[in-house]
Amino acid sequence: MTEEKKTRIIRVNADEPELEILEEAARVLREGGLVAFPTETVYGLGALAESERAVAKIFAAKNRPATNPLIVHVATLEEAKTLAGHWPQAAEDLARAFWPGPLTLVVKKSDRIPAAACAGLDTVAIRMPAHPVALALIELVGAPLAAPSANPYTRVSPTTAEHVMRGLGGRIDMIIDAGPTSSGVESALVSVVENPAEILRPGMIDRKRLSGIVELASIKEIVVEDSRPRPSPGLSRNHYSPRPRVRLVEREEFLDLLDRGEGREFIGVGEDDEGKVYHLPPDPSGYARGLYKAFHHFDRSDVEEIIVEKPGDDSGAWTAIYDRLRRASSKSR
Ligand code: TXA
Ligand code: MG
Repeated sequence: MTEEKKTRIIRVNADEPELEILEEAARVLREGGLVAFPTETVYGLGALAESERAVAKIFAAKNRPATNPLIVHVATLEEAKTLAGHWPQAAEDLARAFWPGPLTLVVKKSDRIPAAACAGLDTVAIRMPAHPVALALIELVGAPLAAPSANPYTRVSPTTAEHVMRGLGGRIDMIIDAGPTSSGVESALVSVVENPAEILRPGMIDRKRLSGIVELASIKEIVVEDSRPRPSPGLSRNHYSPRPRVRLVEREEFLDLLDRGEGREFIGVGEDDEGKVYHLPPDPSGYARGLYKAFHHFDRSDVEEIIVEKPGDDSGAWTAIYDRLRRASSKSR
């Protein structure tokens, strides 16, 4: 159990954060506290990556199993290399192509990061986020920050400070509010431990863009049990789920269910259907940016089921969105 604490919210400008305000958050982190901060994908729950005690607080606040390792956030490529036991050419090439950005690289770890942050694995996940607030914060702290998404375990990742407050308020020290995040779904997770590299979690930097830089292993669906350290963690089926049941259906079935209504809410794409549908934009970037906001919206309602119209065609950047929609809809209860 974590004791109840007062969670402070501080507001900063997303593009040009006021450093004197951010310094308050940096101080809390240096002292081993928990601070939620925005990245371009989702809000992260940050703590000193090198401190075993600080890292333990992340797991406690989120109720996250110790078998699920954290992502370590850095502000420079040089810092990333100090966290790696071995920095392969594929890591160098991908980092140079996509950092700062929504790409996390899994490499062999150095002993700078405590084993607990990596769930005892001999690898570490590293990312340089493309958000001025996140980068300025890491630089002010002067050390890498371990940060999973700032939501209770298995729940939907937060894209606003308000989402963080609702999920973790009273369990963390501070939230840095810089408005809604711009990208929306979590970073692509790519392991470069072996050759060829392997996508462990798809993101908005899609397969095609990654394969323009490095050779990639073929796709496999990986879902492992919660009880053992995970080779490709975070991929358990019940991740990314809102409270109501989610059903992913084709347009035809969607319209049919819409006619019948009752006890359901609807997430669709494109045109409005008489105000009965929560609409997301028809392009993958817009859809990704809005999806978790929609899930959080229905999390608060008393609806039992959300019907989601299948968007796009499950290729390119839509792959990451389909991945999250499938996980949300495969929750058994
Ligand atoms: O966009 C993002 O990646 C966000 C922001 C805050 O950076 N973070 C995020 O963290 O989504 P989290 O903890 O919710 O998801 C991290 C994923 C998990 O599936 C975890 O199991 C996996 O990365 N992971 C971490 N370390 C790993 C490792 N050494 N090997 C394989 N997977 C790892
Ligand atoms: Mg998460």
